[in-house]
Amino acid sequence: MSFPDVRPRRLRRTPALRRLVEETRVAPSELVLPLFLKEGLTEPRAISSMPGVVQHSRESLRKAAHEAVSAGVGGLMLFGVPTDEHKDATGSAGLDPSGILNVGIRDLVAEVGDSTVIMSDLCLDEFTSHGHCGVLATDGSVDNDATLAIYADMAVAQADAGAHMVGPSGMMDGQVGVVRHALDKAGYQDTSILAYSAKYAGAFYGPFREAVESTLQGDRRQYQQDPPNLREALREVDLDVAEGADIVMVKPALAYLDVIAAIRDRVTVPVAAYQVSGEYAMVEAAAANGWIDRDRVIAESLTSIKRAGAQIILTYWATEVAQRLR
Ligand code: PBG
Repeated sequence: MSFPDVRPRRLRRTPALRRLVEETRVAPSELVLPLFLKEGLTEPRAISSMPGVVQHSRESLRKAAHEAVSAGVGGLMLFGVPTDEHKDATGSAGLDPSGILNVGIRDLVAEVGDSTVIMSDLCLDEFTSHGHCGVLATDGSVDNDATLAIYADMAVAQADAGAHMVGPSGMMDGQVGVVRHALDKAGYQDTSILAYSAKYAGAFYGPFREAVESTLQGDRRQYQQDPPNLREALREVDLDVAEGADIVMVKPALAYLDVIAAIRDRVTVPVAAYQVSGEYAMVEAAAANGWIDRDRVIAESLTSIKRAGAQIILTYWATEVAQRLR
């Protein structure tokens, strides 16, 4: 059978028909809200390259967490932004129980407890004076194995603070296994790992650098992945799953839908994607100029990321979209 007996348009005729055959639907519980907590703030501070996103004070963080939970958001991913005086060559404030990230985790646990999943960024870049995701060797390169030892302690500090899930995002070789081992040894068998498995060294993280006041000179190409490579992402994912990753993540999202789809086909663990700061900023900027329909573009981009195979999406629009979906 073919045309004129077959007419695909029949199923598109009314909103009710389209709803009936809709293949992909995003739910609030699949959205994770990234949050920035800045040490020493008494009021939230705007991030100019991410209109609508702020660096939180401890008080405004608690309020934002509560709002997200009320909207049904599936998780919160916390980033800590220390003051300059608390940055050093090894990122020691990341391990300090009174460091800003660990303080923020405790605040979230106290505020929303088990009503959502509390996740913490497990990486040194916000805490190092040089802005790299690890410690430096004498030649200035990032020392993989020395960094792993620090990640192990940082993971335990975050679990001590009450994080349900840690998100190693530094792209060091072996990071998932080392973190898993350290957590288990400290009695945190049930703290899970969201592995940033395929994280690309692209240009979409620009606004995030402002959000966390990054001091980075240069780039992360010696540890994050090269954008042209897909098979390499599969290799990274295989290693992370073998090392005990509970969830694997692709980042950025929209420019890497093929990577999401390939990974979805390959693994049985949940697949997440991070719609990053640059993706957010592009939509907000175009919408502010009246060039696109903001809300529809947001919905379409999230639907596309889910259609590609990500069942969990980190997005700065999580609360807003979850509210709209309810
Ligand atoms: C590293 C980290 C980065 C982001 C999340 N975790 C920055 C980087 O890799 O340079 C970027 C998130 C975004 O751009 O929204 N800790």
